[in-house]
Amino acid sequence: MAQTVKSAVFPVAGRGTRFLPATKASPKEMLPIVDKPLIQYAVEEAIDAGATKLIFITGASKRAIEDHFDSDPELESALEASGKQELLESIRRIVPKGVSCIYIRQGEPLGLGHAVLCARAAVGDEPFFVHLADDLIASELPCLTQMAAEHERHGGSVVAVETVPQEDTSSYGIVAVDESGRVNQIVEKPAPEDAPSNSAVVGRYLLAPEVFDKLETTGRGAGGEIQLTDAIADLLEDAPVYAYSFEGKRFDCGSKLGYLKATVAYGLEHPDTGAAFHEHLRELLAE
Ligand code: G1P
Repeated sequence: MAQTVKSAVFPVAGRGTRFLPATKASPKEMLPIVDKPLIQYAVEEAIDAGATKLIFITGASKRAIEDHFDSDPELESALEASGKQELLESIRRIVPKGVSCIYIRQGEPLGLGHAVLCARAAVGDEPFFVHLADDLIASELPCLTQMAAEHERHGGSVVAVETVPQEDTSSYGIVAVDESGRVNQIVEKPAPEDAPSNSAVVGRYLLAPEVFDKLETTGRGAGGEIQLTDAIADLLEDAPVYAYSFEGKRFDCGSKLGYLKATVAYGLEHPDTGAAFHEHLRELLAE
């Protein structure tokens, strides 16, 4: 009943206004956490989970993303000539052999649901991942890999969820589940008093292809946009969707504070910076 998931969709058309002026001419997905851009963490997670087709839904000023995942023979020769083997490997590893990248322009900013629908022809009639690079998740087993295992167990669609403070429900898709973990209600950004729970969908989805049919007819929802959440709500009537509480720590890198927290957490773990950064923070806090 469960199928291997080969396609991962990365909606990257958003303008990233919360990070202006940093994001005026370069994509928010290219903001680095230590030495890798957010979108590379996203791609690595999808490849770890078995994806071989990476589908980027892009928009204006997003060319840097395509450049990042393209080969760069000039840079490679320069690194080779100067004996910087480790850096050379880190460049070559970005897109491993057997993995392909597809870029589709969204054209109009009609929302996350519309962005996902743009991937329909590239995905085909198979289950697929959707990964929102803003939500960076540090975990032992990458979150999409955990979700693929969940999909193996019982088929259907899977959305990653975490508990959020009740006052934050209006920033997320919120689910209600039955005792088996099956979603029976999903609402986009409800006010705290209307929310069916405080279990929030984070930026990881494993979706059955039937969601595309739903997206074709989903009208504009919250914020006047075509919402993925609304299409998933339509899907619930015909097919199971499971809420999956992942193991790991999520950083909301769409917010300045979340981004800084991620930088600190990843900087402390990084082999090049960890020990010295730890020492620096200790001194700083002692002041
Ligand atoms: C999107 C989805 C929302 C989800 C969130 C996770 O919202 O619409 O349902 O909970 O991502 O990060 P956005 O953050 O793009 O407003």
